[in-house]
Amino acid sequence: MNIKHLKLNHLTNPLGYDVQNPTISYVVEDAAGKHQVSAKVQVSLKEDFSEVLYESGADEEIINTGFELPIALEPMSRYYWKVQVTDETGDSAVSDVQWFETAKTVSGNDCTWEAKWITPALDKQVQAAVWKDIEVSKPVVKARAYVVGLGLYELYVNGEKQGNECLLPGFCDYDSWIQYQTYELQFKAGKNRVEVLLGDGWYKGVYGMRTLVENYGDRLAALAEIHVWYEDGTEEIIGTDTEWNARKSQIVENGIYSGEVYDATVDTSETFGTELIDLGYERLNPRLSPAIIVHEKIQPIEVIHTPTGETVLDMGQNMVGWLQFHSKAPKGSKLFFQFGEILQDGNFYNENLRTAKAEFTYISDGVERDVCQHFTFYGYRFVKVTGWEGEVNPEDFRGLVIHSEMEELSELTTSNPLVNRLVLNAKWGMKGNFVDVPTDCPQRDERYGWTGDAQIFSGTACYFMDTVAFYTKYGRDLYSEQVKMNGSVPDVVPVANYPGDASTAWADAATIIPWNVYLHYGDKNILRRQYDSMKGWVDYMKRADDEDGAKRLWQTGTHYADWLALDGNVPGGVYGATDPNMIASAYYYYSTNILAKTAAILGKTEDAAFYGKVAAEIYNAFINEYYTPTGKLSVDTTTAYVVVLYTGLTPDFAYERVCRGLMNRLKKNFYHLDTGFVGTPWLCRMLSENGMNDIAYHLLMEEGYPGWLYEVLMGATTVWERWNSVEPDGKISGTEMNSLNHYSYGSIVEWMFRNMAGINPTEETAGFKKFRIVPMPDYRIENCDAKLRAASGLIESAWKIDGKQLKFKFTVPFDAEAEIVLPNASAEVIAGQAENIECRQDGENVVFLAEAGTYEFCYEPTTPYRKTYSINSTWEELQANPKTKAVLEKEYPLKKIPFEKELCTLEEMTWGPFTGYGMTREKRERIDKLLKEVE
Ligand code: BGC
Repeated sequence: MNIKHLKLNHLTNPLGYDVQNPTISYVVEDAAGKHQVSAKVQVSLKEDFSEVLYESGADEEIINTGFELPIALEPMSRYYWKVQVTDETGDSAVSDVQWFETAKTVSGNDCTWEAKWITPALDKQVQAAVWKDIEVSKPVVKARAYVVGLGLYELYVNGEKQGNECLLPGFCDYDSWIQYQTYELQFKAGKNRVEVLLGDGWYKGVYGMRTLVENYGDRLAALAEIHVWYEDGTEEIIGTDTEWNARKSQIVENGIYSGEVYDATVDTSETFGTELIDLGYERLNPRLSPAIIVHEKIQPIEVIHTPTGETVLDMGQNMVGWLQFHSKAPKGSKLFFQFGEILQDGNFYNENLRTAKAEFTYISDGVERDVCQHFTFYGYRFVKVTGWEGEVNPEDFRGLVIHSEMEELSELTTSNPLVNRLVLNAKWGMKGNFVDVPTDCPQRDERYGWTGDAQIFSGTACYFMDTVAFYTKYGRDLYSEQVKMNGSVPDVVPVANYPGDASTAWADAATIIPWNVYLHYGDKNILRRQYDSMKGWVDYMKRADDEDGAKRLWQTGTHYADWLALDGNVPGGVYGATDPNMIASAYYYYSTNILAKTAAILGKTEDAAFYGKVAAEIYNAFINEYYTPTGKLSVDTTTAYVVVLYTGLTPDFAYERVCRGLMNRLKKNFYHLDTGFVGTPWLCRMLSENGMNDIAYHLLMEEGYPGWLYEVLMGATTVWERWNSVEPDGKISGTEMNSLNHYSYGSIVEWMFRNMAGINPTEETAGFKKFRIVPMPDYRIENCDAKLRAASGLIESAWKIDGKQLKFKFTVPFDAEAEIVLPNASAEVIAGQAENIECRQDGENVVFLAEAGTYEFCYEPTTPYRKTYSINSTWEELQANPKTKAVLEKEYPLKKIPFEKELCTLEEMTWGPFTGYGMTREKRERIDKLLKEVE
């Protein structure tokens, strides 16, 4: 047995984090048995556990997905912990020792600071660093620094950057809270120079769609408190004050959008003073943000010499971060770099970044060195290089991929390389847009924490990576903005002066993100932390409803709704056709339901009953408003059907008509999607889960516009904002709002995990302790292999269509249990293939409960998993197979079919108006029979 993935609040050995509700989690691997029969957690202030501060008792229930340490923590203390697990066979293991260390407080800011906020005594535009020489004259036991710089900062001791983090202290609602960091310092004897290098960042620089400036403050500022504990038992505290000096920075200009100007010739030896600046202490809080670090270094795949004579590096991947290069440039020479996502006519292009300049200028002092940026980042694949002397060699460049630290949890591959690339593209979308805040895009003059985009993608994100710490921090920002808006949720978080709030499906990030996080990781802390936020948002909607006559519908407000859907009235417009008030009412119901369930989980019984009742009222009002008595949904769009199916607003009497409505909508659109931000994330899921799995696969496999693989075939390495961001001729479709790295439509990957591979968390026992595996293969893909290192442990679901056989392999983690559903199977056959399982026949499927272990099955399904044909096959499909083509040539010899009719089914083709050819019922049945016989 091994105990792995040990974390505290989903962080590995966190130093200086806010550890309110310190909760440990771990994963047991390679155990002899199936269940944890006992676990013991020990906490100590000593690494060797010679004194134990806490030991869990025999009656304490320790669940590996989250056990809150029932101890009162002290500030500025390091705690060591370990866990011992024993299974039913007596197999046992003790984990490696883990630790966490508290900041100046455990959480919040109930402490005094000796350090004072200072600002360089220079013009406010001048970029600078503040520093002090600290004399260490006796042996040191340990030293810590509690530091923050605004807008952005890096801490240096004796010229060396401390830690490996980028863009500290990250981006949060600085008006409400400021996260400081804790550093373990190594001082040498004698003089030590401590320096805080400052940059404008989100706080002070240009940031926001209206190119706002100084959103949170107009001066650079630093606060640093250094504690040194000496061997003689004394402690010394050195805080920032006006004794500290300032110097000019070589980073003479920097901005999130504009990039950076690095002038290596700037005289940094000239000393300036510092001044006090009163930013108060109330907002200070130990950090929550996971570290933003460099995760990968990519070498350009090509140096392109473009038709207009430019030199352009191709990174081979649309990525987010920095460009590092090795400079041997002579003194005074100026290197200039511009960043873009796509070439146009083979030339460098960046107009879709709008006002974001995304540049880097380096003025050389003649010293050979590696150069990189500090206080900006770029979303790019191509870099135009100007001013480089001699041959541009790819070896001299690296793209540094930066994003927030989150453990990667999964892999999903199939027999189809395009689908595999799509999964990768979605993951790259996540990397690039999880830089402290979940953003819409990482390149243009936006890079905002758009709540809608964040909500839509959160389900997929939870499969890809451990997002608990990341969303915990975002949740805090979201709530702190809500507090200022009487419960409403802004369109972007942090707000940074962006106006706009309370849009349906955007603001519901307040309920949906914590709920997804809970489902995936089973840790109730996120629900506890966000409860007031969730409630605040639902109360806001209810107030809006009450003011509008308490209809238990939400029929007011302005909503983005099915943003960027293709069925809108204005060609190329941004608003979809689905009635925004219908979507708003559905989300009102959906969020109220989540809140009621959350209240029940947290033991808030009164709230659970109250919001449960409100949800029931919304349900009834919705049914009355949007369905005819015979079950016809009054809004006839793909998204409308998907929304009522997903949110549970499809009453039994309407179910069949809703499903048929959805099918017909797609059929009328020649089986092409036309959905936007609301419909798309749920579209394939609702098709698969409501008897239309084949259409879900059909949409996935669509290689033309609009579809996911169209982008892949057009060379996308991330997911685009629009279905037609790039036209078939390679031309960008517009510059107004057109990002090539927008993760929203990457949410198809959630369908792949949940439906294609079938791995689903359950509400009853979250964190995949009890979960479901319901794989749904389709002939269009030969095999699928998914691995998810879930909170409970490693889950696997793999299938293969092998001739007439269906083969499956599943792994259920230690101390977990899965309900497995095998499609088109017989209980008798399945029971014979695995020991100790009790199979139940459920219609066409076989269902059984599986404990920890690996299971393999191979059987001939009751319905063939190969392509079949009928009169309902499309003309295109029937032409593609020589055997069906031969049937048609003989039985229904049409000469030329208009191109746009090729996606019609044969049945539709036989309707006179299309083709002029009618067909008798007998003939129809005969052709159908012949087609069905084709193997
Ligand atoms: C963003 C979107 C966002 C939308 C809302 C856009 O500019 O990039 O992804 O959700 O605005 O209107």
